[in-house]
Amino acid sequence: MKSLPIQIKLTDNRKEKPNPETLIFGRNFTDHMFVADYDEGKGWHSHRIVPYAPVSLDPASIVFHYGQTVFEGLKAYKSPNGTVRLFRPEENMKRMNLSLDRLCMPRIDEDLALNALTQLIQIEKDWIPTVEGTSLYIRPFVIANEAFLGVSPAKKYQFYIILSPVGSYYKEGIHPVKILVENEFVRAVKGGTGGAKTAGNYAAGLKAQEVADQKGYAQVLWLDGVEKKYVEEVGSMNIFFKINGEVVTPAINGSILEGITRKSILHLLRHWNIPVAERQISMDEIRDAYDNGTLEEVFGTGTAAVISPVGELNWDGYKMVVNHNETGPLARQLFNTLTNIQTGNEEDPFGWILQLNNELAKLA
Ligand code: COI
Repeated sequence: MKSLPIQIKLTDNRKEKPNPETLIFGRNFTDHMFVADYDEGKGWHSHRIVPYAPVSLDPASIVFHYGQTVFEGLKAYKSPNGTVRLFRPEENMKRMNLSLDRLCMPRIDEDLALNALTQLIQIEKDWIPTVEGTSLYIRPFVIANEAFLGVSPAKKYQFYIILSPVGSYYKEGIHPVKILVENEFVRAVKGGTGGAKTAGNYAAGLKAQEVADQKGYAQVLWLDGVEKKYVEEVGSMNIFFKINGEVVTPAINGSILEGITRKSILHLLRHWNIPVAERQISMDEIRDAYDNGTLEEVFGTGTAAVISPVGELNWDGYKMVVNHNETGPLARQLFNTLTNIQTGNEEDPFGWILQLNNELAKLA
């Protein structure tokens, strides 16, 4: 990992840490954040770690008007022996560059960004909660901060990394969630920005999410934007179905976000010799599998959501109750293996973990 000269200004005002037993996702933030600036012709510069604080932006900043922004999400854990562990952080930096390219934003140096992240985490390591089901959520993001109302890529940007101690994303935790299949609104179409992690995709999903929430559903399952026939993904996670012994998930097609947890779950399933397919899946196929009793399990995967079993799918009023609304054995096994690797309770045979103490020792 390349070492990055970072100016560090520590706060005099440490915040009180929240109770780790009652953490809500995304509500608490640590004492410091990382910031870097970009100017056309100069590149990324002024890398710094500063006290966490509101930022000041020109109201004409392009991000406010045309949504030129991308983000990532990953997690840090503390192992039983106190080692800080990051789960596949290089994958996030790689994906961030794909998103930046799609939004006409300047690429980051993945190695340097990772270095900035490790330096920030080192400063904030006491914020990593250790209660079961908790972690330190890491949110890197880039915004266009040039003040200009013309529709064109900005010439100025800022890269931030903020940190948030979190509990489970859904109030249900590892218990099954209810999902509404979305028939009216669409999230993305091929050729659009669905494959990028950019704010607009999430803003576009809020209306459907609001309706689902009013009906008592945790999230919506998006269908393809053209025929509204094929399954794509859930609001904040990728989706998997176990049908007649085989695990199927929608193939990456340009409009689905390529989740890092999705990729890891596919790897685990193949490692365990469980039949897996990445392909197109229609809602008709899901309903048929439900009707003939072969829809064994449904679960979502995501950094925030981890593994989230789906207990009910509602497609136009047709309610499919999956595995008696209980967490299935495969979802449980995947959850246990993944979280044990992440937290250091189980060996990591795949080289997914970046142990921070080792990395910092290399830099010293
Ligand atoms: C994540 O899982 O990290 C995400 O980015 C989903 C988010 C929208 C909560």
